[in-house]
Amino acid sequence: MQQCFGSPLTQRVDWRHGDPDFREVDGDFYKIWSSHPGGHKKYSYFRQYERLFGEYRNKKARILEIGVYRGATLKTWTEYLGAGSKVIGIDINPECEKYHAPDEGRYVFIGDQSDADFLQGVGRRMGPFDIILDDGSHRTDHQLKSFNALFVDHLAKGGVYFIEDTNTSLWPKYREGGLDMFDFIEAAAAATHVFYDEHTYTDYRRSEHPRPFMVYNATKLIEEVRIVDAGIAVFKGGAQHHPPLVDHRIG
Ligand SMILES: C[S@@+](CC[C@H](N)C(=O)[O-])C[C@H]1O[C@@H](n2cnc3c(N)ncnc32)[C@H](O)[C@@H]1O
Repeated sequence: MQQCFGSPLTQRVDWRHGDPDFREVDGDFYKIWSSHPGGHKKYSYFRQYERLFGEYRNKKARILEIGVYRGATLKTWTEYLGAGSKVIGIDINPECEKYHAPDEGRYVFIGDQSDADFLQGVGRRMGPFDIILDDGSHRTDHQLKSFNALFVDHLAKGGVYFIEDTNTSLWPKYREGGLDMFDFIEAAAAATHVFYDEHTYTDYRRSEHPRPFMVYNATKLIEEVRIVDAGIAVFKGGAQHHPPLVDHRIG
């Protein structure tokens, strides 16, 4: 961090301002979630959820949540996203089957998030999803396997994939597979910038560009990456995502 940020940003400061009062959290997600016992969430996620997922309300959105636990969030999503939404949960624990309630738009599939065939089977049956939320094992290798199994074919255009608790990759117990979330962030940064490493400005001036561009699929599909407190959201390019042609209009 010190290599990029100067001393005003790298000085160590006190982060405490008293314990946060959860009752003061703004937004409907928190209000609904607090009415369903059995969940636990980082304070900052409530704000992030509103920012990341608020636009999907009342649009018959489909969400896939990896990690059902006691079913609290599945019920919350149904209420938060509104009528006609579909909420699909997956969990390795067969006891989570009891939260399967198709009449209420909630579906639970039992399986392992590191099993690409299982995930893609759920995707083919219930997707494409507008939101995919990984709140499962929190193992880095699982987070990467699930992302790779689902992002390309089972997240809708314009959808968002949010990996929660990415802080765990800094703890040896969860850092399986030799990679951590900084590697993921680096890959995402490369996907959104490598084009400029391979092409000059004149290449992509609208009046001069000579040929179709060959790019990594990731460059085409990843429109935005948002890094938040212990989480990474990857936005999939929608209809507006296209090569960065520029046009000078004078007069
Ligand atoms: C943090 S809890 C989920 C909490 C829930 N999303 C909520 O907010 O209330 C994690 C869940 O992931 C499940 N899990 C752990 N390893 C898994 C794996 N390999 N595949 C799928 N689910 C897994 C656990 O059984 C547990 O229910």
